[in-house]
Amino acid sequence: MAILRIARMGHPALAQPAAPVADPTAPEIHRLVADMIETMADAPGIGLAAPQVHVPLRVVVFRVPGERGEDADADGEVEDVPLTVLVNPEIEPLDEDMESAIEGCLSLPDMAGMVPRYTRIRYRATTPEGAALERLAEGYHARVVQHECDHLDGILYPMRMADLSTFGYVEEMRRGMAAGGDDEVGELEVAEA
Ligand code: NI
Repeated sequence: MAILRIARMGHPALAQPAAPVADPTAPEIHRLVADMIETMADAPGIGLAAPQVHVPLRVVVFRVPGERGEDADADGEVEDVPLTVLVNPEIEPLDEDMESAIEGCLSLPDMAGMVPRYTRIRYRATTPEGAALERLAEGYHARVVQHECDHLDGILYPMRMADLSTFGYVEEMRRGMAAGGDDEVGELEVAEA
């Protein structure tokens, strides 16, 4: 296993569409997945797509900790999504509903912005074991999957933003909240994916 170098916005590896994986069970795919999981844990991040580590293939890893799901869910429901590997994923929005929330990306370190995403999706993929995976997702879980799958099409989250005035450095946003007397200062935690 190895920790891989993560490409940052501006690198051509992030801008090109990734190719489908012919054989998700191939040893080189298992090696790539193991390295991506190690790289994601080291960063640390909650998601990583192969183009971010300079590999132009449709492979995604992610893990949504329960407390994140709780943050994002108005119902207070805790959604803990275990470590998941998606090969050749496909996303289908379940309806037209979209919601905006703050997002970060390992390829734009220390930055964040408000990004509209579909609230409810269905996604399908193949696992590295060759099995078919299908899940319904909403809220933060759905957001992470949409963010990662965008990487496979050369799309970074600023390209999805509706209001670029919400784009900036997390540290400056915290400072701005403090100056504005916001009690939640210091609680602004942006997970990168
Ligand atoms: Ni990202």
